Amino acid sequence: MMRRMANNRRLDNDLCEAMLHLLDLYVRRKDLQRAFPEVLSKNYDRLLEWALGVVQKRWEDSDHNTLKTFGDRFESLLSLRTILDPALNEWRYRFYQKFWKEKVEKDYAQKGHYWAVGSTDEKNYLETGRKMYASCLLSGLKEVDTVLDFGCGNGRLAQYLQGFLRGKYYGVDISEILIEDAKKKISSSNFTFLVNERPTLHFPDRYFDFICAFSVITHLDIEYTKELLQEWKRLLKPGGNLCVSFIPNKSILSFAGDIEKMEHNPAFLLRLAIGIGFRFVDMTDPGLGQLLLHLTL
Ligand SMILES: C[S@@+](CC[C@H](N)C(=O)[O-])C[C@H]1O[C@@H](n2cnc3c(N)ncnc32)[C@H](O)[C@@H]1O
Repeated sequence: MMRRMANNRRLDNDLCEAMLHLLDLYVRRKDLQRAFPEVLSKNYDRLLEWALGVVQKRWEDSDHNTLKTFGDRFESLLSLRTILDPALNEWRYRFYQKFWKEKVEKDYAQKGHYWAVGSTDEKNYLETGRKMYASCLLSGLKEVDTVLDFGCGNGRLAQYLQGFLRGKYYGVDISEILIEDAKKKISSSNFTFLVNERPTLHFPDRYFDFICAFSVITHLDIEYTKELLQEWKRLLKPGGNLCVSFIPNKSILSFAGDIEKMEHNPAFLLRLAIGIGFRFVDMTDPGLGQLLLHLTL
């Protein structure tokens, strides 16, 4: 029995490895992305069929040598969606981590800490932080709340919250550099900053009274946004507040991924959130160049 479990685990690892390899290839090759746009919505059957075709040498392809190492495993992959889903997620998470690391390092080196979170200069950085703070108050933030600031950057909102909040604040961000910067700026003992590599976080269910994510989902594909909304639903207390800002059009040029895979349509995002179980409170324009969607449970 134990041996069978160990063998299965090895098989799973092999299959994951094969899938990750195929997805790496997919990221490198624009022609594959064009041919199989469904992959990001987790519909990868046709991509796998193509890989099988290459492996079996039904046609010549420059990736034949890369794929044939994994050939015998692709056959079984076709029926193993439970392996495919985590593998595809893993690939997407790594993609975003790499993107933010490179972008933030470049922005810090060239233009400074405000540029890395989308501000044009120091004045705009401070002004934007103040408006974010004001919209949190308008959305029901209370002094005693336990707060999650998802994608907190380098503390643009936290610098205003620290004079107000007596409850606990947790700022999480995918970028290590931004988190290190935030820690240097904010010293209050009820403020904690953490790096998160995944949409899921290590907090218990219903831990937070208030969750905000300013200008984060703007940079993420629909699947990632869906995963985040599901996680925030788990983390938010009944009656708590969730504030999510996003750019409601395709004007943004600096984003992670492909603009065609992002969703900027407010009605779409609202339907997604309601489908997951949130209730609509309001949608406002707080003067951030973004819309703010306020939801509750
Ligand atoms: C435009 S900045 C906004 C930062 C901050 N919310 C603010 O308004 O100052 C977008 C932030 O989202 C973070 N981010 C992007 N993808 C993320 C992810 N998957 N998980 C956590 N943070 C992420 C980036 O590192 C960056 O700090």
